[in-house]
Amino acid sequence: MDVGTVRALGSPDGKALLRSLPPYDEAAVFGLRDRLRREGHPADFVAAVLTQQRLRSRAVAKFGEFAGDLLYTPDGLEQASRLEVAATHAGRFYNASLATVHDLGCGIGSDAVAMSALGVTVQGVDIDPVTAAIADTNLRPWPDSRAREGYAEEFEAPRDPLRSRVGVWLDPARRVPGKTGRHGRIKRVFRLDEIRPSWDFVLQVATAVPATGAKLSPSMPQDAIPLGTEAQWTSYAGEVLECAVWWGPLAQQPGRSARILSPGRSPWRSTRRWPSPTRPSPRGRTRSGRGSTSPTAPSPRRACSGP
Ligand SMILES: C[S@@+](CC[C@H](N)C(=O)[O-])C[C@H]1O[C@@H](n2cnc3c(N)ncnc32)[C@H](O)[C@@H]1O
Repeated sequence: MDVGTVRALGSPDGKALLRSLPPYDEAAVFGLRDRLRREGHPADFVAAVLTQQRLRSRAVAKFGEFAGDLLYTPDGLEQASRLEVAATHAGRFYNASLATVHDLGCGIGSDAVAMSALGVTVQGVDIDPVTAAIADTNLRPWPDSRAREGYAEEFEAPRDPLRSRVGVWLDPARRVPGKTGRHGRIKRVFRLDEIRPSWDFVLQVATAVPATGAKLSPSMPQDAIPLGTEAQWTSYAGEVLECAVWWGPLAQQPGRSARILSPGRSPWRSTRRWPSPTRPSPRGRTRSGRGSTSPTAPSPRRACSGP
């Protein structure tokens, strides 16, 4: 898919066509393809439409009834924050009264959409032009929020970010673009020094912009968590999905916390005091090879002491 095709899919005609499609059915794909070709749609556009139909059916698991409102790339969908989790990220920025958030590596814009829906204006950039075009299309209901192709590293912090109510969100890629593993899924990286944009860059941004948040792997090494931040592990339906690190006004309670989300239940939050990040745990090394495991991969039961 190219940027032109994304624009065609996001046009009123493209959206109407996507809306008119029946639910994805593998057995009916060829018949549908032939029908769309007979109606005069170009072959590459038909291929893109059918891909969206397939990805939308997969996206229901992450976005529920909103899955049909968004455009996707396969990588973008796999990496996107699920709706419930994106909403909790967005709530932090909203509660800190931020006006603008720079989403540096915005993907297809799941977090950006959640923030925009709460009235926070998002300026997203993504290194991949098609992904950025998709995020921009997904943000169209909120005209002030935009996404464009660009390097996160080109971000220039405003002189007084707190006064201008500016924050930054980083959800660095933990996948190797274009590389698939044994099961055909995109290859994941586990080491903190392999994420893109880099961890050093995340730290630089957080120094320049107090209201910074970053989503990292749940295997985040405990000794890498910066002092004074809140590191929050989130699980959904029993699977630990991420460790988000929150700086400045986004940290509700500096230290470690766990948030347990389950379908149809109110969230549980635990702020149990966990060992200092500077003290290595005797329990061994993480996959990052940096030593010290944390409650990072908390079993929800262990981490949670009450509602
Ligand atoms: C995990 S995804 C973001 C997902 C997003 N938060 C969401 O919920 O949809 C990370 C994104 O960072 C982008 N990326 C990686 N390195 C980048 C860089 N140096 N500058 C800008 N974007 C980058 C990747 O293309 C990828 O789309």
